[in-house]
Amino acid sequence: MQAEIINGKEISEFIKGRAAKEAEKCKVSGREPCLAVILAGDDPASQIYVKNKRRACEECGIRSLQYTFGADVSEEELLGLIETLNSDETVDGILCQLPLPSGIDEAKITNAISPEKDVDGFHPVNVGKMLSGKDCFLPCTPAGIIEMLKYKNIEISGKNAVVIGRSNIVGKPVSALLLAENATVTVCHSKTKNLKETVKTADIVVAAIGKPKFITADMLKEGCTVIDVGINRTENGKLCGDVDFENAVFAAGAITPVPGGVGPMTIAMLMQNTVKSCKSRLNFH
Ligand code: GUN
Repeated sequence: MQAEIINGKEISEFIKGRAAKEAEKCKVSGREPCLAVILAGDDPASQIYVKNKRRACEECGIRSLQYTFGADVSEEELLGLIETLNSDETVDGILCQLPLPSGIDEAKITNAISPEKDVDGFHPVNVGKMLSGKDCFLPCTPAGIIEMLKYKNIEISGKNAVVIGRSNIVGKPVSALLLAENATVTVCHSKTKNLKETVKTADIVVAAIGKPKFITADMLKEGCTVIDVGINRTENGKLCGDVDFENAVFAAGAITPVPGGVGPMTIAMLMQNTVKSCKSRLNFH
C-alpha cells in the first residue's frame, strides 16, 4: 500500500491564514506586525529562502524590512544594525539568515538579537526556555514538524521517534520537542553504529542529515511516519530530500514530500512567531 503524502503546502496555508487573521487584529489595535530580515553574503539558497519569507509576510499582512550585505560585511556592521532593530519599537521580529559569510561568528550575531524579537528561536534564552517547557519562540522547522504531526492526528505520545541528524537548527530542537510531546526519542548521527536497526524501531522518523536519499525503504518499519527535512539535489539537478521517497512511499504509512513538505511549514511558523511577538508587544493575547 502507498503511504499518505503529507501536504505541507496545505497545512502551511492553514497556519498562514490563522496568522493573517491575528495580524489584522494587530493592525486594528495599533500597527501591522513587522519582521526585519538580514541577508549577508551570496549564498544562492539563502537568497531564495529570504525571498520566500518576504512573500509570506506580504500574504499575511506582515510588514517586512530587508537589509542586504555583501560577503565582505563586518561583524560590527551587523551588530550595529541588530542593536538599532532591537531598540526599534515597531520591529517585532529580527532574523539573520544563516549561513553567514566565513569570518563572521554566527553565535555572536544570533546572541545579539533580543530574545523578545528572536522569531527564529535560536537565542540561548529561547533554547533554554524550550528545553524547560516554558513559553518562548520555538525554532520554526522543528515547531513546523510537530504542527504537521498534530494536524494529521498522528499520535506522538508513547511512540518511538528516531531523529537522524543533530544540528542546532533541526536535529537537537526537534528531539526536544518530540520528547516534550512524550515520545521516546533516539538521536542518530554520523558516529551512530547501528543506524539501520535503530531507524527500524521508529514509529516516527525525522531525517535531517543533508545527504540525498540517505534513508532507504529497507530501513523503515512498515507503516511508520517519515518526516523529510532534507533539501538536496540529485546528480541531474533535481530537488530531493534525505529520504528515497519513490521507494519509501511503499513502506511508510505517511510521508512528507520534497518539495512541498517541511519547507513551507518553516515559513508558516515564522509568520506565526512574528505575529506572536507583535501581540505581546501590543499587550494583547
Ligand atoms: N538557514 C537555514 N534555515 C534557517 C532558519 O530557519 N533561519 C535562519 N535564520 N537561517 C536559516
